[in-house]
Amino acid sequence: MRYSAPPYMYDVLPYPPSKEPWLYSAKWRYVERTFQNLCRYYGYREIRTPILEQTELFTRSIGETTDIVSKEMFTFTDRGGRSLTLKPEGTAPVVRACIEHGLFAQYPLLKLYYTSQNFRYERGQKGRYRQHEQLGVEVFGSSDPAIDAEVITLAMDFYRALGITELALHIHTVGTPEARARYLEALRNYVRPYLSQMSQDAQKRFELNPLRMLDTKDPKEKEILAEAPKLLDYLDAQSRDQFERLQEYLHALETPFVVDPMLVRGFDYYTGTVFEVKGKGLGAQDALCGGGRYDRLVEECGGPPTPGIGFGLGVERCLLTLEALSIVLPVEDENPQVFLILLGDSLRLRPIAVRLLHDLRRAGICADMDYQGRNFKKQLKRADDLGAPYTLLLGEDELARGVVALRNQTTREQQELPLESIVSSIKERLAQG
Ligand code: HAM
Repeated sequence: MRYSAPPYMYDVLPYPPSKEPWLYSAKWRYVERTFQNLCRYYGYREIRTPILEQTELFTRSIGETTDIVSKEMFTFTDRGGRSLTLKPEGTAPVVRACIEHGLFAQYPLLKLYYTSQNFRYERGQKGRYRQHEQLGVEVFGSSDPAIDAEVITLAMDFYRALGITELALHIHTVGTPEARARYLEALRNYVRPYLSQMSQDAQKRFELNPLRMLDTKDPKEKEILAEAPKLLDYLDAQSRDQFERLQEYLHALETPFVVDPMLVRGFDYYTGTVFEVKGKGLGAQDALCGGGRYDRLVEECGGPPTPGIGFGLGVERCLLTLEALSIVLPVEDENPQVFLILLGDSLRLRPIAVRLLHDLRRAGICADMDYQGRNFKKQLKRADDLGAPYTLLLGEDELARGVVALRNQTTREQQELPLESIVSSIKERLAQG
């Protein structure tokens, strides 16, 4: 029996895979650390929530009629008869955790970031998986559009830090639920005469979630909807004012953007600002990052009235974009700095070698040895394969004389040094580069 990863899920590997180089764990770590460092500069603190939550948290917050809730959740009943769902997204769990721990009362302005594994039963394709990782932020307690601009700029800075500059930032606002209701009425009135020419999917959206009609990929429907009334014209004064101020801030921050009236996000919780960062080289799955304001979500989840805004950015799409743009990440060197080679395999030698390795590691030196009892040539080859800049050669003879040979693998120069002080000698050499 051969097992494989579940459909449209993947493994991230310890060595660069030749077929899909983006599935190399060092690249993931680099991307995650870049994000975490940036969050530190911006004053965000980390939050971690469980991988699953009560199903109702998602159905209520994301919305019953959204694609995610109606067809994509991984839901199951646990042994205690509870309905649980693997996180399809990170925002609702963060809201739940902050309510549960009383953080809104304690910290009037909360700036949080997270790394979240999300699960959606989607039709898989390049850039769309059933498990994906999001790096996200959520800010609670301010409806100042300056914070919207900060959140958006953080996302853009993240891509810039990785060298991805071919990006398009799309922004829009969905207004208050009341303004949206007025707009949806107008949208329905406009679409009604064309409805019979539209797909079944669009007809269903017309009934259940008309805003989603704007998200169509069908060219004919696109043409019809191009002339539809615009949400911006139905906005309440406050949303309009906030949207204008957001644009001023983005200008001040020299963050280019386009106002995109067709920008539709797949969640019901948004109010006000919504945005997406679109990349190049991914075809249909070009949304690298998506987010927006959700000023009523905390209250709807049972917390105090608290405005909120955030985003989630997909790590897979980020790595695929880097690959498409041939950007090489300066990933950390995972090779040993020193490789210990045993000359002979006497029982006396082994404990000393193991101790020496331990001392090197304790001194902060990445050190390794061969545990397969192989001959000198094979150990040396292993050291070369691993790219160790130095090898240490230790045999009975060296041991008797209290020395160990240090070999520079590049110049092949070899020098005997006292075993006693070998750790500090190597430290010095490594410090000199
Ligand atoms: P979202 O737009 O559903 O938003 O997801 C955010 C990002 O996650 C997408 O732009 C994309 O890069 C990535 N992503 C989503 N689904 C998949 C998938 N199936 N495979 C690979 N990558 C995917 C949210 O989830 C919101 N919670 C974002 C948010 C935070 N809004 C406010 N705060």
